[in-house]
Amino acid sequence: MKTWWKEAVVYQVYWRSFYDTDGDGFGDLEGVIAKLDYLKELGVDVIWLNPCYESPDVDNGYDISDYYSIMEKAGDMETWERLLEEVHNRGMKLIMDLVVNHTSDQHPWFLESKSSKDHPKRDWYIWKDPRDGKEPNNWRSYFAPSAWEYDEQTNQYYMHSFAVEQPDLNWENKEVRHAIYDMMRYWLDKGIDGFRMDVINLLAKVDGFPDAKKPADLQYLGNNPGIHEYLQEMNREVLCHYDVMTVGEIPFVTPEDGALYVGEDRHELHTLFHFEVADDMPSWNMKQFKDIQTRWYEGLKGKGTNSQFLNNHDHTRQVTRYGNDGTYREESAKLLATMIHTLPGIPYIYQGEEIGMTGVRFDSIDDYHDIAMKNKYKEEVEKGRNPKEVFKDLLPLTRDNSRTPVQWNATEHGGFTTGKPWMKVNPNYTTINVEENLKEPHSVLHYYQQLIRLRKEHPVMVYGEYNDLSIDDDAVYAYTRKNQDTCWLIVLNHADHESRFHCPEELLTEEPHLLLANYQDVTEKERMEDLVLRPYEARIYQL
Ligand code: GLC
Repeated sequence: MKTWWKEAVVYQVYWRSFYDTDGDGFGDLEGVIAKLDYLKELGVDVIWLNPCYESPDVDNGYDISDYYSIMEKAGDMETWERLLEEVHNRGMKLIMDLVVNHTSDQHPWFLESKSSKDHPKRDWYIWKDPRDGKEPNNWRSYFAPSAWEYDEQTNQYYMHSFAVEQPDLNWENKEVRHAIYDMMRYWLDKGIDGFRMDVINLLAKVDGFPDAKKPADLQYLGNNPGIHEYLQEMNREVLCHYDVMTVGEIPFVTPEDGALYVGEDRHELHTLFHFEVADDMPSWNMKQFKDIQTRWYEGLKGKGTNSQFLNNHDHTRQVTRYGNDGTYREESAKLLATMIHTLPGIPYIYQGEEIGMTGVRFDSIDDYHDIAMKNKYKEEVEKGRNPKEVFKDLLPLTRDNSRTPVQWNATEHGGFTTGKPWMKVNPNYTTINVEENLKEPHSVLHYYQQLIRLRKEHPVMVYGEYNDLSIDDDAVYAYTRKNQDTCWLIVLNHADHESRFHCPEELLTEEPHLLLANYQDVTEKERMEDLVLRPYEARIYQL
């Protein structure tokens, strides 16, 4: 079935690093409004806004203390409402982050829950007695060595899948679920266009909380029995009454399980982020990547819709991690974009990606803010490891790689703020910035514009069948997208050297039409039976 959200290009705004209008060093909602024309010009349809709710900000807004108000750093409700209106005025849509696996430990619900064992809200969170005077089981959390935190006053532990300051809600409790549904309706009734759902497959916990065989492998935190009942109930109670888009953040998921979350006949979610790339492929691995694409395509075929992304606020910038951020920065940025926008699934752009922003290496741990990195650093150093080495090991994948402020121009702090930025700007802002990209006709930014435009004009990019023609090739990735009347061939040379691609005979046509390429001098006359591709060359042909 054709729907607006399958055809959409989503742009992720990590507002605190987007654009600061009041000089406090944090991006703000007013700054998002100021740049809406830029996003419209880029061509994106949907904006995903990271959490901007009231929060002590221990995990950059993913620790919410009031779901009904806006964090001061971001602005206020009036500004948020204006943002929504301005987004809609430009024909775009806004989806909000829904963080309901956990709240902040400062949320009134938790403060009440914690206050005594027989408080009516005690059961809103997950409390357990000590086991032999220690943690109730051996589970780890994402950000801490244990998933349990002891509360002296009531002599019990509470569970937190993330930081100690992010206690997990107890989804078994019906009152909790309905409090969340009320909150979702509040935002939907304001007119938002959907939710990106934070770690949504973590809501259901393993029955009985048994020890894990391998505590370091956090898989036991997700995809547990009961999760589909919760999501179906959420859909029935709330989502099905609105024309909105939902994308679930779903770690540890296989294509088979994925189909259970996004199968169109299952009435749970529309699409998902799986993490077979971002979590399981630390650096580029062509065979692994192709295998992931094929398995997910087959797994969801005729059932549901995938999402395509290579980076976000939790994952190092794609040109640094999966491309080449040196000699071939622009070429590889365009190649990765070509891939994400032509593979089956909804493409996501993380702010700054459209100008080829890179990861960063600051000199000292003090320049970093990411709680995941800071906690890990502390944990390892406390084990007696050499701090310098720990720091070095954490650099490639720290989440702050993608959280440095957007580089708007070559003035101080990249034009992000007139104050002191909450996080240092990547020093390469003098050459990599939006202003330069707007001026240069062949910039990464203009390439993204063209790619997005293609999606609007050619349904094959959204609905076409996918077929990998290059399974065993380490450098070249070539595939077709096909519907009744159109066949596209996408050829990508993911290597810093020349490669050849021999187009299979059955695809050879008299006049292949080149739709887009990241080198400017490609002629249509080139012999398809033996294409010579330059480093990081990317081409889209209509056959
Ligand atoms: C998700 C978010 C991440 C956050 C975590 C806990 O993975 O994307 O930024 O730290 O959930 O809410």
